[in-house]
Amino acid sequence: MIFSDARVAIVFDRYKQREAADRKRMQSLGPAGFALRDEFLLPVGEDVGAVLHTLVLARRPKTILELGTSYGYSTLLLADAARSVGATVVTMELADYKQAFAREQLEEAGLDGVVDFRCGDALELIAAASGPFDFVLLDIWKDLYRPCFEAFYPKLAEEAIIAADNVIFPNFDRAEMRAYRAAIAALPDLSSTLLPIGQGIELSVKWSAGNAKL
Ligand SMILES: C[S@@+](CC[C@H](N)C(=O)[O-])C[C@H]1O[C@@H](n2cnc3c(N)ncnc32)[C@H](O)[C@@H]1O
Repeated sequence: MIFSDARVAIVFDRYKQREAADRKRMQSLGPAGFALRDEFLLPVGEDVGAVLHTLVLARRPKTILELGTSYGYSTLLLADAARSVGATVVTMELADYKQAFAREQLEEAGLDGVVDFRCGDALELIAAASGPFDFVLLDIWKDLYRPCFEAFYPKLAEEAIIAADNVIFPNFDRAEMRAYRAAIAALPDLSSTLLPIGQGIELSVKWSAGNAKL
C-alpha cells in the first residue's frame, strides 16, 4: 500500500505489531480466548486492508460507512484512501473505549478530520444516518450482518460497493454468513462475488443496469 503520509505508515506498523502479538496470545489461549475477544484488535488484516484501500482509491466514494471500528485498524486504511479521494468515513462501534483508542490513532496519523466517529449500537446508528453511502465495510459481530445490511441497503448510492469480512473464517460464523449471502443473492440489483482473501470477503456492487441475474 502507498500511504498518503509517513505518519499513517508509522501508525499502521504499530497496528501490525499488535496484530502479531494478539495472534500469539490467541493461540496460547485456545477456545478460552473467545471470552476475551474485546481485548483483541480482530482486524481485517493486511491483505483485505489492501483490497479495501485500493477499492476506495478506484471507486472514489463520497461517503464510506464502516460497521465495526474496533481499535481502528481498518478505519486507518479506509481513512487514508478516503483523504486521497476527498471522501468521509462514518465509522460505527458499540464499545466506547475501543473507539476512543481508534480516535487517538487516527489523530496521530493526521486522519481524524476525515472520520466521523459514531458510538453506539450499529442498528440504531444506521437508522439515524442519512446516507447515501457509496462504500460499506461490514465487519461487526456476525449475527448482525443481515439486520445491518437490511438497515443500510435503502441508504446505498447507485454503484455502491459493500465489502463484508469473515465470510469464510471463522467457521463458527458460517450460518450467519449463509444468511447474509442469501439476502444479497435475493436482490436483483446486487452483483456479488466471494473473494478468498484473508478471512474471506463477499464483495458486492449495487448495479441496476442489467436485467438477468443468475
Ligand atoms: C471484527 S471487529 C471490527 C474490526 C475492525 N473492522 C478492524 O478491521 O480493525 C467487530 C467490532 O464490532 C463491534 N460491535 C459488535 N456489536 C456491535 C453493535 N451492535 N454495534 C456496533 N458495533 C458492534 C465490536 O465491539 C467489535 O469491535
